[in-house]
Formats: sequence, C-alpha cells, structure tokens
Amino acid sequence: MKLWQFLLFFLFSVEITNAADYELYDYDWLTQKAEVVTTPAALTKAPDDDDVIVDQLDNRKAVNNEIIGGFSNQKSFSCPHAKPTLHTGETVGQLSPEDITIVAAMGDSLASGRGLWAFTDVEFRGAAFPIGGDANMDGLVTIPNILSQFTSKIDGVSHGMGSADVLPDYQFNVAQIGAETEDLPQQAVELARRMKRYIGNELKNRWVLTFIVTGSEEFCEKCEAPSKTSIRKALGVLKKAAPRNLVVLLGPVHVASTYRQNINLMRPRCKCLEQMTGKDYRKLFDLWKKSFITVENEFNGMNYTTFGVLAIPSLAIHSRNPQSLLVPKKPLLNRKGHSYAAKWLWNRLIAGPNYNISNIALSEDAYYCPSVGCPYFRTVQNFHQCSVITESDWAAQYATTPVPLEGTKHRKQVMDRNLGGFIAIILFLAICSVSVFGTFFYCHGMRATKGRFDYGKQKPVEEEL
Ligand SMILES: *[C@@H]1O[C@H](CO)[C@@H](O)[C@H](O)[C@H]1NC(C)=O
Ligand SMILES: *[C@@H]1O[C@H](CO)[C@@H](O)[C@H](O)[C@H]1NC(C)=O
Repeated sequence: MKLWQFLLFFLFSVEITNAADYELYDYDWLTQKAEVVTTPAALTKAPDDDDVIVDQLDNRKAVNNEIIGGFSNQKSFSCPHAKPTLHTGETVGQLSPEDITIVAAMGDSLASGRGLWAFTDVEFRGAAFPIGGDANMDGLVTIPNILSQFTSKIDGVSHGMGSADVLPDYQFNVAQIGAETEDLPQQAVELARRMKRYIGNELKNRWVLTFIVTGSEEFCEKCEAPSKTSIRKALGVLKKAAPRNLVVLLGPVHVASTYRQNINLMRPRCKCLEQMTGKDYRKLFDLWKKSFITVENEFNGMNYTTFGVLAIPSLAIHSRNPQSLLVPKKPLLNRKGHSYAAKWLWNRLIAGPNYNISNIALSEDAYYCPSVGCPYFRTVQNFHQCSVITESDWAAQYATTPVPLEGTKHRKQVMDRNLGGFIAIILFLAICSVSVFGTFFYCHGMRATKGRFDYGKQKPVEEEL
C-alpha cells in the first residue's frame, strides 16, 4: 500500500540521519584502529653505534595538532579553557585536561621519586614528575602542577617523602623502588583499594589519569622483555576499579646529548645493557616497544568508551649537558631530570606522537596548550580523527530536558528542529490513514448484511418461530 511505503520511507530517513549525526559527533573514533606505521627495514637500519633512532620511537601521527599557545610558568599561563563552551569528557577520545580530577601512579623509582634527594635513596614522592604535588609551576614542575592550571581540585597527588606504605593512603602513588612489570598487578590491586576507599562510588563519574612508569630499572637490570601478561592483568584491575580512566604506559627513559640523540646515556649505567652491541640493544628496545603497542592495541581494540591505554614506548629527553639530568652512576633522573621529564611528558600528551623532540631544545620549549582543532589529550582514539562538540550542541542532542539554545545556528540545531517537523508529518499521516481506513471499513460494515459477530452463530430463535 502506497501510504505505508511513504510512512516507512519517512521513518527510515529520520533513522538514518540520526545515525549519521551520532557518528559524526560522538563515535568517530570507534571506526579508527590504532595503527602503527611500520617503516621498511631498510629505512630503520641504523649505524651500529646508534642505540635507537629517536625519531622512530613512535612513528604514529595525529591529525589537527597545530599547537598555537604555550606557557612557561604560572604567571604566563594563558591556555584557553575548553569548558564551558565545549562539551568534553564523554569519551576517552574527547578527554580534556579539565576533566581530570584524580591522578595515580604505578611503577618503579622514577615514579617514586628516588634520586630527587641528592646522595640518598629517599623517595621524594612529592616531587616525582608524574604525580608529585609539592612546590608549584614556578618551582619544581610535575604533571599535577600543570594540571592544576586546568582543574581546581585533584585527588591522589603525592606529597612528602617516604615509601608507598609509609605515606597516607589517599596519595595514589603505589610505585616502588626496583619494581618490574611483573609487580604491576599487585600494585594495581593496591591502587584499586586506595581509590575505592577514598573516592568510592564517585569513581564511576570522575576521570582518572594513571601513569604506569615502568622499564627504566627492569630494562637496565635484566635486559629482558617485559611481561605482557602482567601489564594486561594490571590494566584489567585498573579498568574494573576505575572505569573512567586514561592509562599512560610509559617506557624506559632515554637520556641523550642534544648533539648525539640516538645514543642513550642510561646504557653505561646498566651492567648488562652496557655489554650489548648496538644491534642487540635495538632488538631488545624493539621488544619493549612492540609489547607496549600490542597491549595498547588489545585494550583499545575493545572499543571501551571511557577506558583508554596510551603507550609511550620511551621517555626520550635530551640536553646540551645531559649529565646534569642524571644521578651519578645510577639510571635515575635528578631534580632537573624530573622537570625535563614532566615537560616532555606533558607536551607529548598534548601534541601526540608528532611531538618531535629532535628539533626542539627542551629547556627553551614552552609547555603546550591543548590545540584548537583538538583540545584533548592526544590518545589513540583521536589520532586519526578528532571532533569537537559545543556544550549547547551536545545538550540539544542528548539532554532529556530542553536547554535554551544560544549562539549561532549550527547544522545540528537545524536538524533537530526538522526532526520535530518529521514527527508532526508522521503523526498527521497516521491520523489521516486511521480516519480514511476507519471510514472505509465503517461504511463497508454498514453495507454488510451481517454483523461481524454474526458469522458462525446459530440462527436466532425468533426466526424459527
Ligand atoms: C572495535 O571497532 C573496530 C572498528 O570499528 C571494529 O573493527 C572492531 O571489531 C571493534 N571491536 C569490538 C570488540 O567490538
Ligand atoms: C623531526 O625533526 C628532524 C629535524 O628537523 C627531522 O629530520 C625529522 O625528520 C623529524 N621527524 C619526524 C618524525 O617528523
């Protein structure tokens, strides 16, 4: 029947337009696969005295990453805020620094802050680059210090000195001296316990930025590949405990001279690494990188909306005077080294793998502001495609209560108004068809000699008489 075909056509076209919009605004990243561009072997071949080729530590690319602004201290901080104009934090592909209200760290001495207090083994957790909160932007730089320019209250930050079990539980730094990848599941369980205790049910609604700083000590001591199984287990525990979580998997530190960036100065500080040939070292390093990327792909391939893994195979910093970043004779960073690491890590999170360390003097570089085209942490979920949605667009699309629309008319709003029109047309057509068919059948019924209920009935008694 023509009318029904017409109605069906309308229903479908509304359905299809909706689906397309949904994809455009929210789920673009689902269609993107984490992709590691493998360079042909001929190009990766390094001269034998090179440890690694720094430019090839991460060969991925991120779209829309032109960085316009930056800052160098608290006073010069001038990054535009995404909120309240933009809607962020729905997915791990649209996670702004402003959405992070909890930080956590796991791993080895680098996250526990050993080496920060000269000539002792004291763990200066308050100054460790991924999670320390002592001092401020103008003094010692750490990731929480930078984040505090974007968010007002952050839980889990480390303060003071001491081991993980001596400092209070509300500090989510469970890193330990000498920890290896095999220790990560146990650390994750402890971290989950702390977060449950202090954040509780709120973990469902709040974003956690977790750093797993691993490899510097294990790589150095054992010269073996990491335990992928343990990393997987740890990530599983973290996902269960804190479902809104961006986990940054940070690999071994590579410290080099600005003039010879492919030579890792950590190597002579590690007995077994020192004895390796350049070729064997590169092989081992590649194993670490591959393991990280494999685990990253496994987790991100599950397409979790709010749980993402970002592998950074190596923290590669350089300086004209690289020894000034290191603790003498140990594979550890000192205060300056931690400040460099914080700056490098922040810029890497904001700029993505395109952040090209080889042509930048880290000491003179600014801290980057989130890019205008993609004002989020550059995660695998937005490397290839990054879309921005304004708060009013989002509200118009998803909120249950109508929110007054303001500002310019976007395509989306026009769509929404038309949607009302479509529904009205469908209702109108439905009413028309009901009255037409109703009238038709009613008239048909009037003309019929028998009532609907008469069929099959016995003859009325009266006629027999
Ligand atoms: C995740 O998304 C990709 C791309 O759309 C798809 O190929 C893959 O099958 C999805 N994985 C799962 C587990 O749904
Ligand atoms: C990084 O910059 C250096 C020096 O400008 C250049 O040779 C190299 O190709 C760049 N690497 C990438 C991955 O863009």
